Amino acid sequence: MNRIGFIGGGKMAAAIIKGIINSNWCDSKNIIVSDKNEDALNLLGKTYKINTTLSNIDVIKNSNIILFAVKPFVLKDVLNEIKPYITKEHIILSIAAGISINTIEEIVGNIPVIRIMPNTPALVNEGMSAI
Ligand SMILES: NC(=O)c1ccc[n+]([C@@H]2O[C@H](COP(=O)([O-])OP(=O)(O)OC[C@H]3O[C@@H](n4cnc5c(N)ncnc54)[C@H](OP(=O)(O)O)[C@@H]3O)[C@@H](O)[C@H]2O)c1
Repeated sequence: MNRIGFIGGGKMAAAIIKGIINSNWCDSKNIIVSDKNEDALNLLGKTYKINTTLSNIDVIKNSNIILFAVKPFVLKDVLNEIKPYITKEHIILSIAAGISINTIEEIVGNIPVIRIMPNTPALVNEGMSAI
């Protein structure tokens, strides 16, 4: 059973979480999201009945699929923060614009990394993604 963790709970994370729940791909109790912004987290938790945390490390410890949905300029800091907790069981997905798979692998090591580029219509469930 997959447990999906989101690091960053902003616009794109909310859109993807909504899509996952509406498609019944994953039960909301198996989704966890972290963010710095407690108000945003509370809203996400209440709207989608998902787990929320202020700790990025909690997300790594409680998920096997990790989706990085922070702005590109904070991604490297977040990767360095969570690196000690990454295991061979994790799969990393990143939607951060302009950050290559190589850049992510250089930090986290030999872990599967999938780079996804959604487009803005994803915000209204009409998106297309390059993977
Ligand atoms: N929006 C689009 O149409 C679009 C399309 C394709 C790809 N993307 C990519 O999607 C990613 C997210 O974009 P977005 O538009 O969803 O951005 P966003 O709404 O700003 O969401 C990012 C969230 O991450 C939070 N955050 C910042 N630092 C953090 C940290 N250290 N740990 C955990 N959370 C942190 C931010 O909190 P604060 O606001 O308090 O800093 C914010 O709530 C970006 O990398 C972008 O390149 C976006």
